[in-house]
Amino acid sequence: MRTYLYIVGTRPNFMKTGPVLAAMRRRAPDDRHILVHTGQHYDDEMSRVFFEDLEIPAPDHYLGVGSGAPGAQIAHILEAVESLLVDERPDLLIVPGDVNSTLAAALAAAKQVIPVAHIEAGLRSFDRTMPEELNRVLTDQISDLLLTHSPEARDNLLREGADPATIHFVGNTMIDTLVALRPRADKTFMNRHGIERPYLLVTLHRPALVDGNQLAETMRELDRIAEDMQVVFPVHPRTRQAIERLSEHLVHVRLLPPASYLEFLALQQEASGVLTDSGGIQEESTYLGVPCFTLRDNTERPVTVTEGTNVLLGLRPDRIREIPRMLQTDRPEGRRVPDGWDGQASERVVDVLIAAARAG
Ligand code: UD1
Repeated sequence: MRTYLYIVGTRPNFMKTGPVLAAMRRRAPDDRHILVHTGQHYDDEMSRVFFEDLEIPAPDHYLGVGSGAPGAQIAHILEAVESLLVDERPDLLIVPGDVNSTLAAALAAAKQVIPVAHIEAGLRSFDRTMPEELNRVLTDQISDLLLTHSPEARDNLLREGADPATIHFVGNTMIDTLVALRPRADKTFMNRHGIERPYLLVTLHRPALVDGNQLAETMRELDRIAEDMQVVFPVHPRTRQAIERLSEHLVHVRLLPPASYLEFLALQQEASGVLTDSGGIQEESTYLGVPCFTLRDNTERPVTVTEGTNVLLGLRPDRIREIPRMLQTDRPEGRRVPDGWDGQASERVVDVLIAAARAG
């Protein structure tokens, strides 16, 4: 019997790991599958509601690390995961994405010579000022199974010296969740807040924008286009705190609480377009064929631009005013869903993990 330990910590992790855990429990029922939540995200609306929507069983261990400066947060997770690994002695640790929980847990395992599998390996923005970029590069360096979801990931990994035998193209497990739950998209949030089409959906939470000096201009630009087009903005807690510190008087833009997964899915499906700085939403909008505008200078997900619906605006709040026109003139026709974004990625992850276990 083998022991697999799955780490999650933040909102996007749940969508990436949930379907892998479910598929592993189904296809390797005699093995032990231990789910660990670091507690990096802890508010009900950032965590518990996702477990409910995604029907992920309650974590076996909740580490309760909470928020903090990046170094302290990583240190707390590292310490807590380390002692858990001593107790559980897993044969493999599985981490998703690029958040602080990902890096800290992978490092704890690597230090104990416990193999690590990284879901979403090889993504690169080539911007080391972005906290996630460091997490990606370092996690890949210490992972033994590099599970990729887009073609350039392999090239990125090989350039950094990865052993080709460790790289496995599996596809996008976050899209597995989307495919499975799309029929249950929930309009409760839309109805509760009186949201009707057409509208622009907005999500912004990256430190480069939220903690920088362009948030005020961004909010002014959003409020300006909201005079003519409904702008719906479910606000991440980090962003909520930053907006409250601004002196801007916002009249038209609708600032709303975070939505659950199924509620956000409905919001995204019905939107005329999405303005975001989130990685996951660049991917989901590409799958859904909804025009996406990314308020960043770069993306670690170029396939959403070359094949999907994503337009990189740059970290240029002044370009927000172009969105209503672009929505009218630019149709995302000829766009395609990238290979491996088909709802079956988790099955391919399981194939890799089981084959690796057999090979010892
Ligand atoms: C983290 C990830 C980011 C990911 C995002 C998804 C890192 C470096 N960043 O960013 O890659 O895109 O999650 O949402 O790991 N807070 C709450 N309640 C919560 C969680 C956070 O109020 O449940 C507030 C706290 O003030 C906290 C702040 O949000 O300090 C930031 O949280 P943190 O987990 O450090 O980073 P995120 O911005 O959420």
